[in-house]
Amino acid sequence: MKRVRLSKSSLGQEEKDAVLKVLDHEFLGMGAEVQAFENEIKAYIATDKEVVCVNTGTSALQIALSCLDIGLGDEVLVPSLTYVASYQAISATGAIPISVDVKEDTLFMDIEDAKKRVTENTKAIMPVHYASNSKEMSAVNTFAKEYNLRVIEDAAHSFGCKREGKTIGCEGDVICFSFDGIKNITSGEGGAVLSSDETFIQRVKDARLLGVEKDTEKRYAGQRSWDFDVTHQGFRFHMSNIMAAIGSAQLKKIDAIAVKRQSIAKHYVMSLKDVEGIELLDFDYDDIVSHIFVLKAKERDALREHLLSNEIECGIHYKPNHLLSKYRSDPLPITEKVYEEILTLPCQFDLDKKDQDRVIKSIKDFYSGQ
Ligand SMILES: Cc1ncc(COP(=O)(O)O)c(C=O)c1O
Repeated sequence: MKRVRLSKSSLGQEEKDAVLKVLDHEFLGMGAEVQAFENEIKAYIATDKEVVCVNTGTSALQIALSCLDIGLGDEVLVPSLTYVASYQAISATGAIPISVDVKEDTLFMDIEDAKKRVTENTKAIMPVHYASNSKEMSAVNTFAKEYNLRVIEDAAHSFGCKREGKTIGCEGDVICFSFDGIKNITSGEGGAVLSSDETFIQRVKDARLLGVEKDTEKRYAGQRSWDFDVTHQGFRFHMSNIMAAIGSAQLKKIDAIAVKRQSIAKHYVMSLKDVEGIELLDFDYDDIVSHIFVLKAKERDALREHLLSNEIECGIHYKPNHLLSKYRSDPLPITEKVYEEILTLPCQFDLDKKDQDRVIKSIKDFYSGQ
């Protein structure tokens, strides 16, 4: 029996040709390809915000925090139900991730819970677009304004999604994407920081190249700085031309990718909505381009075993961070409850209908005792 994969990269001849072109040119590091990819992202999102590409989504979050001068002893509110990347990005700056509970229907950060956790050290909030949903962002922004907090959106899951008719990335304070191998589009590994705060963006541009001031412009022109100054902490977080070439080729396919991922999600919804034992998240699947398809399942672990025994991979996104030794904190009742229920089903561009129907049938068989 063919194994149905949970997630995978999907690359065609276009990506391979684009990489070969860069290899033939023998300029592999950060140069014109990166500038082109940034401009293409900006045009796709239809935003005036600046786009700065980096080497991973985790670096995007870390560099964003660092360039907002968030560091030692500062507190950042973050949902516990996220990949450990969000937490590591915060603690890498010396700041403290403060775990926040989620809402039971969408698994998005619960702003009422966040309010209880504000202290004089709270400097920022990092909402996560969990499973590509971010419809609750306006509540986050209102809260942040009231408490004078910076908002760093962990939009790792939501490239290509919309909110109230607008593409994610065109609104907000600071938005961070991931382009790792299994995200909605990939640049191999990769990430991006978006903002209209010009001072901040200049800091990020410099910081991704070890803090070398104005090196970005030189690199775009295929040069480098020889006489320069450094005033802030920097990192080796820039994106390479090879990565950007893959990203550009992927971005050209985003419409087809979005249609396919949306049709997968909608087929799961239609097929599973009446299955006793399954609870769907309260998402608007017209706006969402699902990076992962998450639902809540009764007897989740037994169902997972059943699917695996039928050669169907599934996942659990995520082990809550406040249960990890490094980030342990007080109980978060909703997060801990849903952690026992959540299950991620296969969702990737190459998933064909026959295989998806096998997933659906397996779930139905499980609950009907077959
Ligand atoms: C919610 C979330 N934040 C951040 C990241 C980090 O992105 P990257 O893998 O590109 O470092 C991921 C990656 O899976 C993620 O799921």
